[in-house]
Amino acid sequence: MHSAIPRPATFLHSGPLRGTVKVPGDKSISHRAIMLSALAVGESRISGLLEGEDVLATAAAMRAMGAKIERTGEGSWTVHGVGVGGLMQPSAALDMGNSGTSTRLLMGLVSSHRISATFIGDASLSKRPMGRVIDPLSLMGAEFNASPGGTLPLMVRGLVPAIPIRYRLPVASAQVKSAVLLAGLNAPGRTEVVEPIPTRDHSERMLRGFGADLSVELASDGVRHIRLKGEAELKPQNIEVPGDPSSAAFPIVAALITPGSEVTVTHVGMNPTRNGIYKMLEAMGANISYSNEREVGGEPVADITARHSILHGIEVPPEVAPSMIDEFPVFFVAASVAQGRTTTSGLDELRVKESDRLALMASGLQAIGAVVTETEDGLLIDGSGGEPLEGGAAIKSALDHRIAMSFAVAGQHCYKGVTVDDVTPIATSFPSFEIMLMMLKGDDNSSVSPDGSANP
Ligand code: S3P
Repeated sequence: MHSAIPRPATFLHSGPLRGTVKVPGDKSISHRAIMLSALAVGESRISGLLEGEDVLATAAAMRAMGAKIERTGEGSWTVHGVGVGGLMQPSAALDMGNSGTSTRLLMGLVSSHRISATFIGDASLSKRPMGRVIDPLSLMGAEFNASPGGTLPLMVRGLVPAIPIRYRLPVASAQVKSAVLLAGLNAPGRTEVVEPIPTRDHSERMLRGFGADLSVELASDGVRHIRLKGEAELKPQNIEVPGDPSSAAFPIVAALITPGSEVTVTHVGMNPTRNGIYKMLEAMGANISYSNEREVGGEPVADITARHSILHGIEVPPEVAPSMIDEFPVFFVAASVAQGRTTTSGLDELRVKESDRLALMASGLQAIGAVVTETEDGLLIDGSGGEPLEGGAAIKSALDHRIAMSFAVAGQHCYKGVTVDDVTPIATSFPSFEIMLMMLKGDDNSSVSPDGSANP
């Protein structure tokens, strides 16, 4: 887990950003690759795995429950799975660090095994609501002993055989959907998740890739019915993890707001349940182009090039929110320097992420001179019209990697730069972020690997 000693950093404006970079592997896909490989019988190989703290927490937990997981090179891992139903009793509490995805998905897995597990996490994770997964997993027969408010630390006792359920998601959450499906893997019969608003579908894609009997029916009312046959036998796979579109959004927005910039990010996942940020930036007039479009490991992938653009404010339709849910912090930065007003709504979920992202982005952007109004479920932002913001303020990252990276990007277009009080949380999802930004600022057309090494 990341150092408890805060490390402040100041991000100053620079000349044009230029170069080609590769961002680390997709966080959502990396978690699922480790989990499903650990449930297959035999050896799976994963390349391009995100080696951030969140994914390492998932790997440590799966090891603690019996899987053999080894790193064989940069981003390359082998996993010997225990088979569905084969997870073993962990001997100590599972430390999830900052990772909500690890926690909620693993709660699902434990729920249908004859084991119990205690989940603990850092101060941010310990505030996040787990009731949303406790509810359906209790219906499947698991027992929970949670801290007040349904938070960590909590204990889960699984049930075998678990009860397959049909569950309509009360909140648009891929984590809740995935927790139920993963529990359903070891339940007899069919587990069904009914999804009124589509969320990222990496679990569905990868479960199918591992040989699970999973179908998705799109009903005439637009509601998705995901059905999984339980007591599945998963076959080991070779998985190539694409670059994370959520991480790519940081250099892309930095390039869009910095005059003279041109940045290409290669090998980025372009799953339509994840690419809302790029669509909305394009709607604002962003000069973004895609090349080398292809499919990697069952996911669409492309290289993305962004050039400095005059952005104009837009109204973001609430139904787009799930496809850019993690990108709103950096999107708000782009809106702060656009021409005119950007309106967002329907973003209540942002209040229960690693931090209350609506409140922290509003107060942080105001502190650096942006004109922002916080509403109950969104932000209204009156952009500066391309003019740099004042900057100069110190921003609290509050154990939230995306708040830290968003204000690092904002510093790029502020007269006085921006200081982030603690950048250590960035290691949860994008360990090479600061090196990447430095290389892009070097104006030398450098090419950077996820580990920050230069590839001319
Ligand atoms: C994730 C789902 C989203 C997202 C998170 C990763 C996943 O959370 O914010 O970073 O991998 O399933 P919710 O399910 O809470 O929307």
